[in-house]
This record gives sequence, structure tokens and C-alpha cells, in this order.
Amino acid sequence: MTAGVILEVKNLGLQFRGRYRFLRGRAPNVKALDSVSFSLGRGDTLAVIGESGSGKTSLLRAVMGLLPPCEGDIELWGKSVKSMSAGERSETRRRCGYVLQDPYSSLPPTMSVMDAVTEPWNLVNRGRGKREEGLSRARSLLLEMKLPEDLWSSRVRYSLSGGQRQRVAVARALILEPEILLCDEPTAMQDISTRGEVIEVLQRRVDAGMAMMLVTHDLFLARRAARRGIVLNKGMIADAGDTEQLLRNPTHEYTRALVAALPRI
Ligand SMILES: Nc1ncnc2c1ncn2[C@@H]1O[C@H](COP(=O)(O)OP(=O)(O)OP(=O)(O)O)[C@@H](O)[C@H]1O
Ligand SMILES: [Mg+2]
Repeated sequence: MTAGVILEVKNLGLQFRGRYRFLRGRAPNVKALDSVSFSLGRGDTLAVIGESGSGKTSLLRAVMGLLPPCEGDIELWGKSVKSMSAGERSETRRRCGYVLQDPYSSLPPTMSVMDAVTEPWNLVNRGRGKREEGLSRARSLLLEMKLPEDLWSSRVRYSLSGGQRQRVAVARALILEPEILLCDEPTAMQDISTRGEVIEVLQRRVDAGMAMMLVTHDLFLARRAARRGIVLNKGMIADAGDTEQLLRNPTHEYTRALVAALPRI
């Protein structure tokens, strides 16, 4: 591992087993990822771009350790996820932040906003008398995310819009100051102005050394937030490089089709 590298994905392959269909036998397996390789270091952002169904979420879930790789390997801080002990795995999880694609299912629905944001902090610092510090971190994160103060004690399930929930999910992912943030369409439910605010919050962390893997189907967002990007097509890397270059001068046929499909003003 070269110095500063946090995540290394090597020739990753992933298959989903075909579901059993009544009287018609098992459906064929779905190859979600094939020979995917990239690395990510301190202060780096990598955009993972691709159309719906191209394998972006599967890639993120594999890096989170929720889907075991069928082929290849994933290394975090130089250690293969395959050979980690349970203790190493939970220590690694603590150093990573996650923002899942669906803020409806990824947040504890009956908790208040404040409790949802402080929960990871309280779990890690249980019995250390640090509750007050967790609350003050959550307050400053929610202010930074521009979530109106009158919503802080509301329940996540009943009183928040999709975009507001997403901002709560980002605050929750940042409270433990992760060294790497894995986020899946973190601004899909934001409008243009709040999207900029969320990206700025993330960018400040990246400037301070956090690594970020940003899954998005939005090429403009990819260019704004990340210097490098990979383009997935049917689970394979179809194109990779500088995001500005990918958007302005796409050389690969698939990227050209994605760029051609962008709305123009
Ligand atoms: N649990 C699963 N079981 C079987 N197939 C799956 C499962 N999860 C995903 N797939 C399949 O894997 C492929 C990639 O799905 P994935 O969710 O990674 O796409 P995506 O790029 O994140 O799409 P989107 O932009 O719509 O979120 C799809 O063909 C999908 O049908
Ligand atoms: Mg997805």
C-alpha cells in the first residue's frame, strides 16, 4: 500500500444469485460488478457515475462490507476485508461514514432528529461521560447543514421532507469525523441551492483530509465535487479519469451517450 491510500479495490467481481421463480426454476445470476479496480487516498474524492442499474450502489455496499466480493479484494487501510477479524471490522466501520441512497429506510424513523444524529456518537462513547460533547457536535452539524432549529426535536418519520432527512443522514454520518465517507446520491432529493450547501459541507471535510466516494448519476455534480471519476456500465468500468475531461471531452462511447443525454439550458 502506498502512503496515504485508504481504500483499494482490486479486480472486484460481484454476483447476485438468481431468484427462484415458481415452476420456472431459478432465474440466471446477475453479474453486478466485474473487474472493478480503483484506489482512494486522504483528501481524495472519487465520483462513481453511471445510469440506473449500472452497479453503483452494489459497489458501495461491497466497500461497506454488506456484500462479500465473489472475485478480487477490497482493502481498507492496507487490510483485506476478507481477512479482518470481527474486532478489526468494527474498528474499520467506526472510521468510515455512510450515507445510504434512501434516507427513508436508513434513519431510525421513530427517533428525534437530535437523537438520530447523536446515536453513533453515543454508541461509540458509551459510559465515557461524553453525551454533552455529542449534543454540541450535533448542534453545530445541524446548523452547518442549515436544518431549521424548530425541527431538531421532531421525529424523523413524521415532520421531515425527503431533502431534510437526507441532510440529517449526512450530519449523522459526519458526527464521528470519518476518515472516509461513502455516500450514495447524497443530494438526490435536494434542490439546486441546498445541494450546493450539502456539497460545501462535504468539501470542507475533504479539504481537511477526509476521503470521499461519491455515487451519483449526475455528471454536473460529479464534476463539481470530485476531481476524478469512474463511469460504470453494466458493472464494469467503461471510462475513468478527470471529471472535467469526462464531461467536456468524453472519449468513450458510453460516456458520450451519458453526456449527450444531459439537459441543456
Ligand atoms: N439484492 C439484489 N439481488 C439481486 N439483484 C440485485 C440486488 N441488488 C441489485 N441487484 C441488481 O444489480 C444491478 C446493479 O444494481 P445497483 O443497485 O447497484 O444499481 P445502481 O447503479 O445503484 O442504480 P440506481 O442509480 O438506480 O440506484 C441491477 O441490475 C440490479 O437489478
Ligand atoms: Mg443506487
